Amino acid sequence: MAAASEMQTLPLGDRIPEAVKRASPTIWTNPALAPTASVLPGLSAGRADVDEAVARWQRFAPLLARLFPEEGAGRIDSPLVQLEGRLSRDILDGADGRVFVKADHALPVTGCIKARGGVYEVLAYAEQLAARAGLLAEGQSYAAFADPAFRDLFARHVIAVGSTGNLGFSVGLMGRALGFAVEVHMSHDAKDWKKQRLRELGARVVEHRGDYGIAVAAARSAFAGRDDAHFVDDEDSVDLFLGYAAAALDLQRQLAEAGIAVGPAHPLCVYLPCGVGGAPGGVAFGLKLLFGDAVHPIFVEPVAAPCMLVQLAAGLDRSVSVYDVGLDNRTAADGLACASASMLVARTLEKLVAAVVTVPDDALFRWLKVMWTEAAFRLEPSAAAGFAAAGRYAATLPAQLRSAVTHVIWTTGGAHLPAEEFEAALARG
Ligand SMILES: Cc1ncc(COP(=O)(O)O)c(C=O)c1O
Repeated sequence: MAAASEMQTLPLGDRIPEAVKRASPTIWTNPALAPTASVLPGLSAGRADVDEAVARWQRFAPLLARLFPEEGAGRIDSPLVQLEGRLSRDILDGADGRVFVKADHALPVTGCIKARGGVYEVLAYAEQLAARAGLLAEGQSYAAFADPAFRDLFARHVIAVGSTGNLGFSVGLMGRALGFAVEVHMSHDAKDWKKQRLRELGARVVEHRGDYGIAVAAARSAFAGRDDAHFVDDEDSVDLFLGYAAAALDLQRQLAEAGIAVGPAHPLCVYLPCGVGGAPGGVAFGLKLLFGDAVHPIFVEPVAAPCMLVQLAAGLDRSVSVYDVGLDNRTAADGLACASASMLVARTLEKLVAAVVTVPDDALFRWLKVMWTEAAFRLEPSAAAGFAAAGRYAATLPAQLRSAVTHVIWTTGGAHLPAEEFEAALARG
């Protein structure tokens, strides 16, 4: 690793490890990782913002319960499941330690982590419109957001988003449930069934020949400056980020209920599949607020699309892409197929991410199959990424600490995968 002064003058190609450029699986430990207490005060968001997000989720619980009565009684949260025996040992490659799965693949309403941000941002926009229109009375239940007066207001507004699929679905589902017009701009690698599902909700789907970044940029410019529209910016939205961050409090409660201590002698390693970075970034930020240095956020990316690794390793304050270092961004993990990382997330998390681990597509399919066979988890390829990383990361931890470590693998989507898609993914495992 070059010294800091030397780094300033290195060309981009020389800042990125050779193995990453060759698309070989890599563990990149963050040389900029700093004590949490020294980083948090310098960030523009803090605990009060996450608490506000939690309060907003709570205000909207009666609405979610009214709109989706079968699903989690108004709470968008997933179980924390402990894995034991041979499966847990296999995931850790034989190392000691406890393994839990944070099962967002089965998240109520959308079956994907992107709901934590996407649903949240739609609710925040709806609240803002309702307040401006004078529809909110003191002490009123937010279940009223599904009443005709609110729906008439929302029907006069458009929500737009650029997405590889799952953010679009979360925004589309919530937006349409409230009566908004919804327009989703999708990249060439977005799956047809994800587009179809959005059309069935009544969303307009705009298909782009380019990648995810191009779809986002097109939607952003199409909706800039419109008073009747709101663009959910996957690359740059603070609301999305805080919606994800609120998940940290759920995990904290679940770990406490399971009797798991987290502290200097009991580290918590959390494996988060990373696309543009919003979901893992928000969750990691929330966890750092709660657990400080005891939590190690580990982002997991496909070998062909390690945009956050490239951005952080470049150490530059301008956006760089995986194409800039010779990678092609082609991966079966459609949710993670992002060429450039969110700069909001890269700047916020640059000193807080412990490591980025890259994984090949065949490992995603292998783990997708193992987790179905051994635990009946229905995952999409992106959501299996943490399993392909945990054993490799665990081996880098000091041997004397390993038995005290709790590993949480965040499974981020898949419960709503159509049967034929899931069968096809299983066949590749
Ligand atoms: C299943 C799944 N996992 C993880 C992610 C990563 O989220 P982000 O792009 O915010 O990093 C996505 C993104 O769409 C996804 O669909």
